[in-house]
Amino acid sequence: MLSNQFILSFFLLLCLPIVFFLVSPHVFPHPPREYLIPIVDEIDDQILFRRASTGSVNITRPRPSNGSIFQNAFITSSKRTSRSSPTLISATRRLFATALLDDPANAYFTVLSQYCIPLHSFRFVYQSLFESPSFDRSNPDPTSKGIRVWYQSFIELISDEPRLWKRYIARGRYAMLPQVPFEKFRVGSHFFVMTRKHALLTVKDRIMWRKFKLPCYRSDECYLEEHYFPTLMNMKDPGGCTGYTLTRVNWTGTVKGHPYTYRPHEVSSDLMHQLRLSNHTSSYFFARKFMPTCLKPLLAIADLVIFRD
Ligand SMILES: *[C@@H]1O[C@H](CO)[C@@H](O)[C@H](O)[C@H]1NC(C)=O
Ligand SMILES: *[C@@H]1O[C@H](CO)[C@@H](O)[C@H](O)[C@H]1NC(C)=O
Ligand SMILES: *[C@@H]1O[C@H](CO)[C@@H](O)[C@H](O)[C@H]1NC(C)=O
Ligand SMILES: *[C@@H]1O[C@H](CO)[C@@H](O)[C@H](O)[C@H]1NC(C)=O
Repeated sequence: MLSNQFILSFFLLLCLPIVFFLVSPHVFPHPPREYLIPIVDEIDDQILFRRASTGSVNITRPRPSNGSIFQNAFITSSKRTSRSSPTLISATRRLFATALLDDPANAYFTVLSQYCIPLHSFRFVYQSLFESPSFDRSNPDPTSKGIRVWYQSFIELISDEPRLWKRYIARGRYAMLPQVPFEKFRVGSHFFVMTRKHALLTVKDRIMWRKFKLPCYRSDECYLEEHYFPTLMNMKDPGGCTGYTLTRVNWTGTVKGHPYTYRPHEVSSDLMHQLRLSNHTSSYFFARKFMPTCLKPLLAIADLVIFRD
């Protein structure tokens, strides 16, 4: 797929540990109620997660950026994923586990899909995350120079979403209790940037997973991956999260729950500059959704616009 090649060629230039997963095109409009993850897959996953939890080393700071740092892109391929099922959660956790084991220096984990594009060069992304003293307002010491020693995950933890209650009871009125009370339940985009500490926490989780993997009674309120990660972070380490994401999405004129999808003729340097604008300390790093046919116009402005900071 052309869009994948574009993302790959971009990420091959990068040195940051980047994880992205490709959402399978198999989307069930009405998933069967009794849909469950096959037990063999579940066992496979548990073995991998245990290995990642015990075998991966904690780090407190990344390697200095002198060019010896590697970026890795991981793609899920072996297991099918579908909407309204817990498979996207497991796919993300498998990617985390693989990336955790792959290199103890993998410090940040970014989840993207094939419809996401970069809005900046790797250098910009790296420096913002690791070196900029002003990038993240929550930095305890904004005057400090050099590499930060305290990192946060860039993930939304939204509680004032009108459909939150319906989403919470999608498995039954009391299904999430007692482990996940409604007050702790959150929603957010599953295109997030997570620290190693939080990725490890996600891979280790058993208690919340046992709740979230339960099948929904209503598929139209069943967007598990939009709840599992924000709720887990909200319960385990809300202070370690910024509460916002670095991936821009255009919800104006949303159709059937899908955000606006940009077409080739809309790609321009103006659009790139507009998409970067954020209400937070720094601009957005990524944007979605772009049709695969946007590859050509995107490549045409890559050097002059996208990768120029
Ligand atoms: C990593 O840190 C966690 C707690 O932050 C600790 O429980 C675990 O033992 C550490 N793992 C290693 C390999 O040091
Ligand atoms: C810097 O790069 C050199 C050569 O690539 C490498 O041998 C060295 O370990 C790196 N230093 C650090 C601190 O990563
Ligand atoms: C968002 O999408 C709408 C169409 O629904 C479009 O008119 C608008 O220009 C888009 N905004 C940006 C920032 O691209
Ligand atoms: C920034 O905040 C304003 C006011 O809440 C909002 O209208 C605007 O859409 C926000 N911009 C972005 C890029 O999120």
